[in-house]
Amino acid sequence: MPELAYVNGAFVELSEARISVEDRGYQFADGVYEVIGTYNGQPFALDEHLVRLQNSLDELSIKLNVSDYGIGKKVSVGIKLAGFEETLVYVQVTRGVAPRRHEFPSSQTHPSIVMTFKPLERLSKNIFKTGVEVVSLPDLRWKRCDIKSTALLANVLAKQEAAKQGAFEALLVDTDGYITEGSSTSVFWVNRGILSTTPSGENILPSITRKILWEVATELQLETNQYSCSLDDLLQADEVILAGTTTEALSVIRIDSKRIGKGIPGPISQKLRIAFLKHC
Ligand code: PDD
Repeated sequence: MPELAYVNGAFVELSEARISVEDRGYQFADGVYEVIGTYNGQPFALDEHLVRLQNSLDELSIKLNVSDYGIGKKVSVGIKLAGFEETLVYVQVTRGVAPRRHEFPSSQTHPSIVMTFKPLERLSKNIFKTGVEVVSLPDLRWKRCDIKSTALLANVLAKQEAAKQGAFEALLVDTDGYITEGSSTSVFWVNRGILSTTPSGENILPSITRKILWEVATELQLETNQYSCSLDDLLQADEVILAGTTTEALSVIRIDSKRIGKGIPGPISQKLRIAFLKHC
């Protein structure tokens, strides 16, 4: 089955999808996005993704009402049309096509709405049994990481450096030495049975998986906390967990080649993952 796209009102084969070179997403990364996965063919946490998309649009004054435009409905239609067992949906909204000038274009400019629908291949079951290695790198991103902007160059460079070092992910460290999140994941850690994560704010993405894992932890009656953790303290954690739409809840067993806990996925990571999957 060919991969599918949606461009400004029409579903087309992905290979046929076209957008202008004067789209502000292309020239300025002046846009926002969402990545949504399916479980049992259904888009997971769709409402949460739509709320976050609207927040990102509002923060950038991109004039689109997600609900009036029917993004949610179109996501569901696309998933059906694509016909894959499980689908990875990418949704991108940019400020639209206009002559290249930094300031916002005229109010007549319409946002460009693009989606892609591809087969979702989940991480191998084995990786959840073994856990993964990560490296720490400076967080070079802009100061509004709470907006899910398509301006991902710093994330891309960090992920590439991690890949070059044979690591699964880069954990980003701010100028004060605190961990913010991964280049495309959120981060949790466990110390003496307490599950913690970075406080919400402008320096991290309000991750949907993080939110759901937080709810799952409450259901499991785990003790939880939110605080900024230094890299040094993270290295002393009993468990470290990455969270994200495609990553789900994945144990970290080494950071910068230093062993975390016993060097295997810990009991709380495993408990969380099992309970999370029951939600999906
Ligand atoms: N990334 N932090 C960052 C910087 C991210 O880019 C992502 C997701 C997450 C996890 O968020 P969520 O649970 O909502 O997927 C955290 C997506 C998957 C991406 O860019 O492909």
